Amino acid sequence: MSNKLNIAIAGLGTVGVGVFKILTREKELISRRTGREIEIVAVSAQNKDKDRGIDLSNIQWLDNAVDLASLDNADLLVELVGGSDGTAKSLAEATLKNGKHFVTANKALIAKHGFNLAELAEKNNCSLLFDAAVAGGVPVLKTIKEGLVANNISKISGILNGTCNFIISVMSKTGRAFDDVLREAQDKGYAEADPSFDIDGIDTAHKLTILSSLCFGTKPAFNKAYIEGIRNLKIEDINFAKKLGFSIKLLGVSNILDNKEVELRVHPTLISQNHELANVEDALGGIKVECDALGPLVMTGAGAGMYETASSVIADICDVAAERKTFPLGISVKNLEQAGYSEIEDHSGEYYLRFEVKDEDGVLSSMASLFSKHGVGFGKVTQEAIDDKSANVILLTHKETEKYVVESLKDIEKEDYCLSKPIMIRIER
Ligand code: HSE
Repeated sequence: MSNKLNIAIAGLGTVGVGVFKILTREKELISRRTGREIEIVAVSAQNKDKDRGIDLSNIQWLDNAVDLASLDNADLLVELVGGSDGTAKSLAEATLKNGKHFVTANKALIAKHGFNLAELAEKNNCSLLFDAAVAGGVPVLKTIKEGLVANNISKISGILNGTCNFIISVMSKTGRAFDDVLREAQDKGYAEADPSFDIDGIDTAHKLTILSSLCFGTKPAFNKAYIEGIRNLKIEDINFAKKLGFSIKLLGVSNILDNKEVELRVHPTLISQNHELANVEDALGGIKVECDALGPLVMTGAGAGMYETASSVIADICDVAAERKTFPLGISVKNLEQAGYSEIEDHSGEYYLRFEVKDEDGVLSSMASLFSKHGVGFGKVTQEAIDDKSANVILLTHKETEKYVVESLKDIEKEDYCLSKPIMIRIER
């Protein structure tokens, strides 16, 4: 057996402890598979005295994580600190500048600084790997970079945030209120340190940015993403969607349009109950990649969790151990393209619309004429009484351009019979 791969770990939270435990428990299996022993030589975390259920007695402890980057005896650094800037970014830069390999689960770091870090990694001939950053334990990035290398990809859609999927699933099954279910997701450890990253769609957008870059060979462009979270999602819409044969999911979608512009969008989405991702429930994640040679590929599995995410982190470490090399962003940074991104108002799609209206004569015909004024057509109309004076009107539009749908809603909202702000949710086929 050749020489060992010595690694240092920054961050011993849930995932860090998972990595430590699996690497210790499966030392022999992993060295048989990679042809090389992997040894943890140093760690850094916030509290040295905390009992994490792991034996750190023979491992060097450094109080300052960034010092791990200059350890002579470490070949690879695993960053599990989190955050797009600060320690994580300094550590990544210092490690790669020092010619060491860098493995991370940090989606915010890669979404925002992935291009510069990939440039640094390529310049210093180091590996920069981050499969755990997207879909936790599901090896999507490896699959896209390696398994799908012969395919042109036209679209990727994913349930990329376990917290949101858990909240929507539980609300849908039990009718419980949003805040109540969010608290449960936090108690279960799914949520980010700042849960607004989850529920406002930012975490999904970080992951989608990385996926989109890898799928389309473009520079990561987090600031081009349209982001709408699930904070305003109502149980009524989950229930109406169900009755109409749909599930609601927070989806990240990126696709290439005929004019070569890229859509990068995160929003609550109605998908048919027959869609491959419709039954991905609770904290699970799922990704659908539309490829030319292979056709559609769907991957589902645990998008978060201690051992689940550690599984992906260790797979990346093993790539370095076995000297399997890929460009960090799938192709060399020199060849990544600067895509043009389309605006959400130009999105063309079907829409679920719900209006709380006075239940009186002439309302539907007024709504129909306001839609018609903007050239918006709809296929299905459902009305359900709220009480004896008001009703919910639900419409499913034909494929329309979003700005015209929005203009129709603005006009309808101004009418006396419209009792609250209309609800608009995009439909994805
Ligand atoms: N907060 C994230 C989620 C963790 O809920 O999916 C995994 O990235």
